[in-house]
Amino acid sequence: MHFPAFDDFYQRLLFLLPFATNFGIPERSFTYNAPHEWKDTFPQCGGAEQSPIAISRHKVIPIGLPPLHFFRYDEPFDQLLSVHNNGHTVHFSVPTTVFGERPSVTGGLLQDFYEARDVHFHWGSQQSKGSEHLLNGRRYDLEMHIVHRNTKYISDEEARNNTDGLAVLAVLFKVVRTGPTFYQPGLNEIFGSLLHLGDFNSTYAPPVLITLESLLSNLDRGNFYSYKGSLTTPPCSPAVLWHVFAEVLPISYQDLPKFWQLRNRQGRPLLNNFRPLQSQETRQIFHRRPADQQLLWL
Ligand SMILES: *[C@@H]1O[C@H](CO)[C@@H](O)[C@H](O)[C@H]1NC(C)=O
Ligand SMILES: *[C@@H]1O[C@H](CO)[C@@H](O)[C@H](O)[C@H]1NC(C)=O
Ligand SMILES: [Zn+2]
Repeated sequence: MHFPAFDDFYQRLLFLLPFATNFGIPERSFTYNAPHEWKDTFPQCGGAEQSPIAISRHKVIPIGLPPLHFFRYDEPFDQLLSVHNNGHTVHFSVPTTVFGERPSVTGGLLQDFYEARDVHFHWGSQQSKGSEHLLNGRRYDLEMHIVHRNTKYISDEEARNNTDGLAVLAVLFKVVRTGPTFYQPGLNEIFGSLLHLGDFNSTYAPPVLITLESLLSNLDRGNFYSYKGSLTTPPCSPAVLWHVFAEVLPISYQDLPKFWQLRNRQGRPLLNNFRPLQSQETRQIFHRRPADQQLLWL
């Protein structure tokens, strides 16, 4: 059942309320029912250099981008995660590790150090796949974003105001129907926590200290696509240096549906929380492969 007038009433009402912040962004309401209307409230959503985009192996520039370098990704966090259903996604703020600083990344398109701040997901529904980026014409089942902030900026707002403010690492997942899937501990804990996060604004702390690295499993971190884009949710700031890994990780057919039973602010199923594809415009997409694979191109 769908009541457009009711939705509309809610949207108007919600714009008037002050909301909890998500990654420092004042969370005025937006919905995935009408992403083309985001620009009416958030002008940058109608601007240039928007994300997500379709990435095609045949249209990318294979260049010698440096590899990504990961720091403190292998150190356990100094506290349990607080995984939260904010009505748009399920996310957690990245805590400091046992050595007192947050994991960080540099290399690729990044000229500076970027500190991990937030991890969240985009998904579809039983009827439709829900990754944000397309890879070689395919939409995948799930997309994880690890959002990093340039350490030279002191606030999220300042980072969003600059084209080199944020770096997002994106990992795509494909549902697998064969046998049990063995994840590293991090993904296991996140997927397991979903069953506790059905209600809007609920929070759950998985009872295990994990590392950020364990969310990446054994992913080939040397093979990624990179381009200049934006946040894929309002305010859509063109402030993100995207790094989308070429390898797609498995997610079990038993775990993927756990995302579909989450509910949004209105108590309705939180489904299809991915933004429609945006134009590539004249932007270049770079493809970085490990050195041995690059030799094969010569
Ligand atoms: C970000 O940009 C907006 C609009 O130009 C400005 O009002 C605001 O002060 C800026 N904030 C920071 C922290 O740079
Ligand atoms: C979400 O939960 C927190 C903590 O329980 C509460 O302080 C906050 O007001 C809630 N926010 C909304 C929008 O319901
Ligand atoms: Zn995202």
